[in-house]
Formats: sequence, structure tokens, C-alpha cells
Amino acid sequence: MRRKLAAGNWKMNGLMQTLAEVETLHTAHPAPRCDIVVCPPATLMCKMAEICAPMAIEVGAQDCHENEAGAHTGDISAPMIADTGARYVILGHSERRAAYGESDALVCAKTRAVWAAGLTAIVCIGETSKERDAGNTLDIVGRQLAGSVPDGACGSNTVIAYEPVWAIGTGKTPSLAKIAEVHNFIRSRLTNRCAADGDAIRILYGGSMTPRNVEKITAVTNVDGGLVGGASLKAADFGAIVATLGK
Ligand code: 13P
Repeated sequence: MRRKLAAGNWKMNGLMQTLAEVETLHTAHPAPRCDIVVCPPATLMCKMAEICAPMAIEVGAQDCHENEAGAHTGDISAPMIADTGARYVILGHSERRAAYGESDALVCAKTRAVWAAGLTAIVCIGETSKERDAGNTLDIVGRQLAGSVPDGACGSNTVIAYEPVWAIGTGKTPSLAKIAEVHNFIRSRLTNRCAADGDAIRILYGGSMTPRNVEKITAVTNVDGGLVGGASLKAADFGAIVATLGK
């Protein structure tokens, strides 16, 4: 039985004062019936991990470098993230794949670095609208999954996030049938490759998830939670998603 996961990706949003949102979330949901992880910008990670230490809220990073340390100006490494008390790292988000040309091979190397630091990788995959319109969704998702996740993935070190690029921040979502098709496909690829470990890996849906659509989307087989952008910024919205996932 996979426990549902509500993961919030704050992207490049949030100042010190925004940390109050996690306190509000905790007050409203002190003993949530799903796992919660909030991924703030790197500037807030240390402080958030400190605040969340006594709470049922884990903290995550939005990216990391594939090396442990060295001359990489502006980057942060997986051991540095672990050092803050954070437990998760989002990798291969489509915004990074698009803006920085991150390849599957690079995401794979980053995943290895995250595992080596004892952290859990949230590996993002998903097709663009052009790829979807050409009927290539499963090809793309299959290729990204095979290329971005190293051998050795299991339920404790890896989460997969299916995020159709065209659904991110647009208010659009795929039909429930399409979500089911892609999540079932990812599950079968994971179990073919990792056997029982593949069955324990959580597969999140991401892209315009809100308190309004979360119930229907997460009722779909093999949807084990959500990777939430915009609706994770306010405790009230994210809390409503947490409450639904805990049902
Ligand atoms: P939105 O929920 O704002 O569409 O963002 C989804 C996302 O990219 C999470 O990583």
C-alpha cells in the first residue's frame, strides 16, 4: 500500500515571511494522513527544515548538482541539501530541462548523487503539447523514465512525478482517462524494471492541481499524490489538497 504524498514546489517564490505558510499548514493538519513535502527556494531551505523538524512536514530542494563539492559557482550539492535537514530533491523539472537544457543523462547523474546523500529523488517527466499532439506521449515519457532513473530505484529513494509540460501553470489538465493511461504505463515500466520495488515507487501527478480537481485526479489508479506548484504557495489551498489526499 503506497501512502499518498502531497509535494509542494514553490519554484522561485517565497521570502522569509512566507515561511509562516508551513506553520499555518501544520496548525491546520498536525497529524496528516498523507506524507507532506514542501520544496522552497534554496534560500529558505535551512530555516524551513528547522521549523518543520517537529512537524509532519518534510522539506525538499528543487534541484542539485551531480557532484558532491567543487568549483561549481551558484550550484548546491546533495550532501549540502541533506545537511540542512531536507529529505527530498526534485530533479529534471521541465522548467530546468527547458531553461538549462538538462538531459536525461544529467538527471540520472543527479539522481545517483541524491541517493548517495541518503535523500529521495522526485524525478519529473512529461511531454510537451507538441509531443502530445503528435501522439508521442508514451514514447517520450518512457524514454525520459528509462534515461533519468538509474538502476536501483525503490520506494524509499525515488518518487516519479508525471507532469505534462502543457498542464503546468495553465489551468489545463489531461482527461482522467489520459492520466490513467500514462500512470499505468509508468507503473508497468517500473515493475518490469524493478519488480516489487517498482510497485512501491510513488507516481505523482503534477500540472494545475488544485483543491477543486485533486479528488478526481487522485482517485485514478496509480496516482499516488500530487506535485503542486501554484496551489502549494498558500497554506489554505495546499491544506485542502493534503486533506483530500489523506481521505
Ligand atoms: P502548477 O501546479 O502551478 O501547474 O505547477 C506544477 C509544477 O510544475 C510542479 O512542479
